[in-house]
Amino acid sequence: MSGVLSGKRGIIFGALDERSLAWHVAMRCVEEGAQVVLTNTETAIQLGTVAELAAVHRLPLIACDATKIEDIEYLFSRAQALMGGKTDFVLHAVAQSMNLRRHKTYEEANYTYFQQTLDTSAISLHKVLHTAMKMDAISEGGSVVALSYIASERYFYGYNDMADAKAMLESIARQFGALYGRKKGVRVNIVSQSPTPTKAGGAWKEIEFFYQYSDHLSPLGNADADDCAGTCVVLFSDLMRKVTMQTIYCDGGFGRTILTPELVEDYREKGKERTE
Ligand SMILES: NC(=O)c1ccc[n+]([C@@H]2O[C@H](COP(=O)([O-])OP(=O)(O)OC[C@H]3O[C@@H](n4cnc5c(N)ncnc54)[C@H](O)[C@@H]3O)[C@@H](O)[C@H]2O)c1
Repeated sequence: MSGVLSGKRGIIFGALDERSLAWHVAMRCVEEGAQVVLTNTETAIQLGTVAELAAVHRLPLIACDATKIEDIEYLFSRAQALMGGKTDFVLHAVAQSMNLRRHKTYEEANYTYFQQTLDTSAISLHKVLHTAMKMDAISEGGSVVALSYIASERYFYGYNDMADAKAMLESIARQFGALYGRKKGVRVNIVSQSPTPTKAGGAWKEIEFFYQYSDHLSPLGNADADDCAGTCVVLFSDLMRKVTMQTIYCDGGFGRTILTPELVEDYREKGKERTE
């Protein structure tokens, strides 16, 4: 099949159901000619619908907890056997925060949950990359993308310990971008995505308000899951073979915008109300 990923082999972490960003990335990779292996935890495979995606497109589905080195080792070796060669690209779309889910405030974080958030949502990328390096599982010039959110670098009310995890995730991507780049020409980049309605996105209590606010503020409107998929595909492809250690904002321009005429008007109206 022809396409920008023709002849490439990839592993996609994090497709849970049809809303998942990873689900859309996987479908787009297949459309662009790649062989894809899907992976998620045992529990997610049982509770979600990723097995349907695998069945429809005849993709291998391998259980792997991204916080467990032995699972990641198994995943890479099994994927290599099934696809007939080393992996060319990896999508890390893995995140979970019990503090967010249980609506804990940031300052009253449960520290056991906090550590789990960091382990699952950030250190898992370190484990995946370290294991891949040890096993020499990613081919020369390969590409790894992890998904993040702009709360890694700015204060977003309610995003909680996930903001810390995303800051760490982006740092890990830069560090491995340098190390793996020198060693094997492997690129490591971040796609910083607009708020998108998914299970993980829904854990953020303010998501409904924020989805609308972000859509308003972004000159191009919110990026959806298909936009995220397109951005990842280009980063996986050879078209971006000299791009590494970057955060690419797939956010409709949100991160570069502070004020719109409507917000000024709204603020003026509220000011009038206050002085009346
Ligand atoms: N939805 C948004 O608004 C948004 C915005 C920016 C970035 N992101 C990021 O995109 C990524 C994908 O999230 P999503 O929004 O598609 O939600 P999602 O809930 O569909 O995906 C999160 C995935 O992480 C998996 N996961 C959790 N713990 C795991 C573990 N230990 N090992 C392996 N997998 C595990 C889940 O099973 C799930 O498939 C996350 O990193 C998320 O933070 C999401």
